[in-house]
Amino acid sequence: MSITVHKSPSPRHSSIDLSTVGFGNVFTDHMFRRQWKEGHWREGSIVPHENIPISPGCLGLHYGQAVFEGLKAYRGTQDNIIRLFRPDRNAARLAASCERLCIPTISADDLLEAISTLVAVEKEWVPHSRSETLYLRPLVFGSEGHLSVRPATSYEFLIIAAPVSEYFDRRGPGISLKAEDYFTRAAPGGMGAAKTGGNYASTLRPTGDGLANGYDQILWLDSEQHQFIEEAGQMNIFFRIGDKVITPPLAGTILPGVTRDSILRLLGEWGIESEERRISIAELRDAKKKNHLVEVFGAGTAAVVVPIKNIEFKRESIVVPDPTPEALCNRLYNELTGIQYGEISDQYGWTLAV
Ligand code: COI
Repeated sequence: MSITVHKSPSPRHSSIDLSTVGFGNVFTDHMFRRQWKEGHWREGSIVPHENIPISPGCLGLHYGQAVFEGLKAYRGTQDNIIRLFRPDRNAARLAASCERLCIPTISADDLLEAISTLVAVEKEWVPHSRSETLYLRPLVFGSEGHLSVRPATSYEFLIIAAPVSEYFDRRGPGISLKAEDYFTRAAPGGMGAAKTGGNYASTLRPTGDGLANGYDQILWLDSEQHQFIEEAGQMNIFFRIGDKVITPPLAGTILPGVTRDSILRLLGEWGIESEERRISIAELRDAKKKNHLVEVFGAGTAAVVVPIKNIEFKRESIVVPDPTPEALCNRLYNELTGIQYGEISDQYGWTLAV
């Protein structure tokens, strides 16, 4: 793929305080854009971040034929090198999401080239502080204006970038979850494993209700019995019970998280037993009763690793002990961010220098 670069005549990066940007409020000066027309992907370009014209009949808007990814660029605290973390995993997941929604796939090589070029153009936007990163958001959607329900014949592939702080504040004891006993995020055979907007749209109403009642996120349960735990908001979830760490399996209803996969690998390297299996609210309740519930944490690109302090199910509260400085969630957070910011040697080959 050849990528042409059209620089913005009025870059803003020097006028923005990157330490106060929050999550997703500010976009960088440029974006990557590539279109699919007449059966193939055209050449790519880096252009100023700006609105793009969309047909009011855009199939992606009407029928949700749209997929996205999320990954971050980190500036090394000691060597100033900008690194991506396991972008090959995002490429594989994007391809799987495209496949599920009948969207023409993007090769891993093309995605990595597009991301690397954008990050190189936007290098001034990669924060210097360890608590901020440059979040990268690839997005592909059916752009054809048409009204029957079928795959589009034209697509937009964009990558936008935003300097961000972590999604949750890690300074407190953790976040509280409401286990949802009516709404579901995904059902077997559905789209739960694809990173597509519809999966997030369906969470807005229950999450809004949860926030109004003082919870930080929803804990999604299985769609049939509302007993087995799936995901926490936009994160995968881990339970440390006794000496083991348990996380729900990738059975098609949850997102195959890059952080989730990295955590399982680190636990294996550290000799900590982990199980990918179904875990129910009843098992959690029982573990709590027997004092075996040691910690619970969520994991995702935006959230990194965040402790969970409380899970409420049908007005019953399962309180999780406060994480100690030695807690796994802290050890994992330190190891992952240490690798990402180039402070710990990357023995797994996870980082890609831009
Ligand atoms: C991510 O962790 O990158 C996500 O996609 C979460 C996002 C929806 C805020």
